[in-house]
Amino acid sequence: MNDSNILDIPIIYSELLIRSKEIEFRMPSDIYIGTLLKSLITSKPNSNLLELGTGIGLSLAWMLDGMDKESKITTIDNDPKLTEIAIDYFGEDERVKIVCADGSEWIKNYNGEKFDLIFADAWPGKYSEIDEILDLIKVGGFYVIDDMLARPNWPENHQENVNNLVAYLESRHDFNLTKMNWSTGIILATKSNDGNKGFH
Ligand SMILES: C[S@@+](CC[C@H](N)C(=O)[O-])C[C@H]1O[C@@H](n2cnc3c(N)ncnc32)[C@H](O)[C@@H]1O
Repeated sequence: MNDSNILDIPIIYSELLIRSKEIEFRMPSDIYIGTLLKSLITSKPNSNLLELGTGIGLSLAWMLDGMDKESKITTIDNDPKLTEIAIDYFGEDERVKIVCADGSEWIKNYNGEKFDLIFADAWPGKYSEIDEILDLIKVGGFYVIDDMLARPNWPENHQENVNNLVAYLESRHDFNLTKMNWSTGIILATKSNDGNKGFH
């Protein structure tokens, strides 16, 4: 099996990559997390989805490709330059709400419907407001994070943040975890029905 033979790349993806280079956006989500998100989202018709860290919209393009017409997604970034670009590309899709806001503030103020899948690709909802974000996931819903494998450009002490986050997720009895040394290092966590990780 050749896992890089990904055949269903979103049509808009190459244009977004060119735009990323033009504006020197250095944090693009890769096609591996993209294809995983698309597959997961396809399992959730009529879903309510959340992305923290819109960036230039690379992962958003994949997520939209996995969504049916009845599903909706809210995506948040605190950089207006990036949300404007995302609005240019995706603003006409009625399923998308692009919000320019600080993710921490947004999470703390949100009191709407819970989510079928959250892709947390910014500091908030990952290294801060973790309990709040996990509470916002429906039973059977997914919490997805990437960038868990060490990189040479990580700031000093970031490994400790990652270790703490992994340990915390492992300690939660209401989530089943799959840790993948694939892409940039992915954790897929699914909220369980009964708060138990299973019978042993
Ligand atoms: C890893 S990038 C996201 C990449 C994006 N998923 C994509 O495919 O292009 C992280 C993003 O989080 C945003 N960000 C950083 N701090 C944030 C905050 N406090 N609230 C909201 N967004 C934040 C950055 O502007 C950046 O675009």
